[in-house]
Amino acid sequence: MQIQDVFAAYKSDLQQMEKYLDKYLTSEVRLIPEVAHHLIDSGGKRFRPLLLLISSRLCDYNGDHRFPMAAVMEFIHTASLLHDDVIDQAAIRRGKTSANNIWGNAASVLVGDFLYSKAFKLLSEISDIALIKLMSKITNVMSEGEVFQLMKCGDVNITEEEYLNIIEKKTAVLLSAACAAGAILGSAPQNKIDALYQFGYNIGMAFQITDDTLDYMAREQEFGKAIGKDLEEGKMTLPLIFALQSAAEEEKEQAQKLITGKQGNEKVIPLILSLINKYQGIDYSLQSAAKYIKEARALLPIFNDRPEINHLNAVAEYVLSRRI
Ligand code: IPE
Ligand code: IPE
Ligand code: MG
Ligand code: MG
Repeated sequence: MQIQDVFAAYKSDLQQMEKYLDKYLTSEVRLIPEVAHHLIDSGGKRFRPLLLLISSRLCDYNGDHRFPMAAVMEFIHTASLLHDDVIDQAAIRRGKTSANNIWGNAASVLVGDFLYSKAFKLLSEISDIALIKLMSKITNVMSEGEVFQLMKCGDVNITEEEYLNIIEKKTAVLLSAACAAGAILGSAPQNKIDALYQFGYNIGMAFQITDDTLDYMAREQEFGKAIGKDLEEGKMTLPLIFALQSAAEEEKEQAQKLITGKQGNEKVIPLILSLINKYQGIDYSLQSAAKYIKEARALLPIFNDRPEINHLNAVAEYVLSRRI
């Protein structure tokens, strides 16, 4: 089964979710729907809503709350992208001019806040205390991840462990929550909620590691984001962290100068890429992502032979092969 088949199997569920995205983006303050629609309508994968809809079906939840809950996931994701593009000074997102580039940083941050708080308004209407606890916990952790990442910006001494901690917080917990929320809606037993949470964690770790690898090696047009952006911002990610672990002291010093120096990206990227290639940083990262995917898949047998297991397996495979 391919990822397109999975999206096709949830087409009508996803359409219901889209209605909530649309409905909750209204505001008499015109700039809000303008900025929010720019990003929401620009072709995001809807990966987090998909996870929630699969896990709901897997846990026999067919009630209407799954649609606003899927929208909550996408709102939080969208808010984090608005904020992320300000922090990263990104010029493009999803192949289009980024919101910060059109309306400026202040508008992006504020509309991001609008989406965060709208997500919690929707969540309060669903009124499930377990879901409220889960979402307030993970959004708080996401903020911690972003701040920790900021602290480690440009630091060539960052350890792999610290990097993994950052990506768990900034990315994996939201995917964990998307997977666990479906099980919570379905009043599944705790072991199944936990298994889905762990599944989301593992694919989330792999998702960010592949994203960080793609930042070095994707084609910009396909990826929809600028290549080499992480390095330009001093963001230390696994391909480089691994290479630096094995690099000689003078190579490390040279890398530090390149990363913190004011040279243009055109000069720096090839030099850093040759260091990454010399020490197989890309291969190592892809293998590391594959390990997380293996862990994710190993959690699924407790659901016996439900058809949704094929969907989750296809999602897991997709995370390793994605190019966008
Ligand atoms: C981008 O997430 C941010 C990361 C966690 C790497 P996605 O790749 O899911 O972004 P969209 O929503 O499809 O654009
Ligand atoms: C993931 O980090 C961002 C969030 C979790 C919001 P990145 O900075 O790698 O995301 P992209 O590459 O800009 O989408
Ligand atoms: Mg970014
Ligand atoms: Mg990235």
